[in-house]
Amino acid sequence: MIKPDDLALGGPPVHAWPRDPKSAVIRDGSRLNEIILVKLDPNDFDEETRSFAADNILAYSAICTHAGCSVTEWAKATNADGNVFKCPCHNSEFDPRHGAEIVFGPAPRRLPALPLAIVDGALVISGPFTRKVGVLSAG
Ligand code: FES
Repeated sequence: MIKPDDLALGGPPVHAWPRDPKSAVIRDGSRLNEIILVKLDPNDFDEETRSFAADNILAYSAICTHAGCSVTEWAKATNADGNVFKCPCHNSEFDPRHGAEIVFGPAPRRLPALPLAIVDGALVISGPFTRKVGVLSAG
C-alpha cells in the first residue's frame, strides 16, 4: 500500500505494481502493469493532468510507447528546465505535468495516465488507463 506521504514533492518517482485490495494479488502477471508514481507541484499541471491526480500525485504507465522498455529515469529535460521521465533505451522524455507528452526522443505516443484517488489514506486507482498501454503495432 502506498500512502501520499511516501512520495516526496518534486520526485523522485516510485515504481509500483497495482494490486487488488481484496486478494492482494497483482491484477495480472503482466509487466505491462508497471506504473510510475510521482508527486509534483500542481500549479505546473495542465487541466487534464490535474483531473487524474490525487493529493498532487500522478500515475503513468511505465512502459515506453517506443519499444516497450521500462521508463526508469528521472532526469533533467533535454530542452527545458525541470525533470521528466526518461526512457533509458533511446532517451525518450515524457513530461508528467502535461499528461506525459513527449518532449524528446522517438516515442510515438505519450504514456497512458492512470487516474488516482485517496481512500482511507491510501492511494487507489479510480479508473482505467487513459490510453492503450505499451507499444502499438502498426495497422
Ligand atoms: S524504448 Fe523507450 S525510447 Fe525506445
